[in-house]
Amino acid sequence: MADRYLSFTGTAPGRFLTRRLGLPQPTALHRWSAEHPSFTGELLHLGAGKSPLDGPDGLAAVLARTGLAVRARSERPVAVVLDATGVTDIDTLAEVHAALHPVVRSVARSGRVIVLGAPLDTADHHQAAVQQALEGFVRSLGKEIGRGITVTLLRLTDANAAESTLRFLLSPKSAYVSGQVIGIGGAEVTAPADWALPLAGRTALVTGAARGIGEAVAATLARDGARVVCLDVPGAAVELESVAGRLGGTALALDITAPDAGARILAALPSDGLDVLVHNAGITRDRRLVNMAAERWSPVLDVNLASVLRTTDALLSAGGLRTGGRIVATASIAGLAGNAGQTNYAASKAGVAGLVRALAPTAAAEHGITVNAVAPGFIETKMTAAVPLFIREAGRRMNSLGQGGLPVDVAETTAWLAHPASGGVNGQVVRVCGQSLLGA
Ligand code: NAI
Repeated sequence: MADRYLSFTGTAPGRFLTRRLGLPQPTALHRWSAEHPSFTGELLHLGAGKSPLDGPDGLAAVLARTGLAVRARSERPVAVVLDATGVTDIDTLAEVHAALHPVVRSVARSGRVIVLGAPLDTADHHQAAVQQALEGFVRSLGKEIGRGITVTLLRLTDANAAESTLRFLLSPKSAYVSGQVIGIGGAEVTAPADWALPLAGRTALVTGAARGIGEAVAATLARDGARVVCLDVPGAAVELESVAGRLGGTALALDITAPDAGARILAALPSDGLDVLVHNAGITRDRRLVNMAAERWSPVLDVNLASVLRTTDALLSAGGLRTGGRIVATASIAGLAGNAGQTNYAASKAGVAGLVRALAPTAAAEHGITVNAVAPGFIETKMTAAVPLFIREAGRRMNSLGQGGLPVDVAETTAWLAHPASGGVNGQVVRVCGQSLLGA
């Protein structure tokens, strides 16, 4: 269902009328396309405190490789990167204000503000206090800046380990990711031979790929060079074959809740195994708990969580995921914030976040695999088109960007987490929600 309000506010009379009535004025977001794959313009590189990321092979070198023109001053930057890793006390925190206060107004529409922070030092409560302060700062700026601009905080110690993340955030691919705090470990990373085809030679399996977000994920991973195995229920075999055929991949018609699903996936994979596993299949069976029979509880927990646990275990124990592999699961902001009528769904999605956080360190240590989750907010799909108009409108507008996301927004975030150079991103639950007010 098209967002007619967004189209209307994109016209001159629509802008005039909605401004007069004090209604939200969402900006049409700049998303990735083959014709416009990256931003063009200036990147304003600012600092606060003494940065540990300075140095010949440090942050400046990574930013220079993004393709944007890096400047210390700019009249109209498309992106601002403020290095606040050296913020350790109230005085250096004031430098964050001093650096950004004069420039926020000049950031281009659909642009980016990225603040770089350091991990919290639990042995230094002054550093921990002002580094934590950056989260409140970033989340507030995201809510007030407007004009389709996103604001993100990255915590990092090594700029090279953050290159795939910086490239993602400094591109149209991250249009609907805002108000997030993302931690990046200091992993050893190898740049892909071709940043435009990072998944070349790799195999990815996407569950629930016949339509919606899963279809977009499969298409995006295929765009990035992956051979895709598209899995969905036998009842969706026709759509599934069509998606897989279009992407030059293979179709696997299988109910992910089948007890032997892990074994059947292993049998369907190429002999060298899998590089990327995307747990996307999911269902809802909404009712308030008082009206929720077990028949509504069990299938949701089975598809959204139990099968994710079972297939992950089956593939890991059989060595089905290669070293350097990536697992990306699908949570939901409903699982983080809670949602009336969704005790079953929110429990399953919160469970996904728990699985990710617990498995990430061991999967990395024992298998060299990262485990992360995307947590979509309101995404325009058949699922949300079926939501009653008033609730749908509220879902669309109640976020900092004033509009719903598209399946491709979740897909791009998944592709960044699946990237071979994203080894430092592990155990993260990244919301793709335009900074939804739900659970913010
Ligand atoms: P959708 O209903 O359009 O697609 C889900 C796909 O999963 C369908 O093709 C379905 O056949 C498949 N599937 C369901 N049960 C399966 C099973 N047992 N085995 C194999 N495949 C199965 O849903 P949508 O909107 O694309 O959602 C995808 C994921 O994103 C789900 O996990 C959903 O919970 C999550 N999500 C979606 C949001 C949204 O706004 N659309 C918001 C937050 C999370």
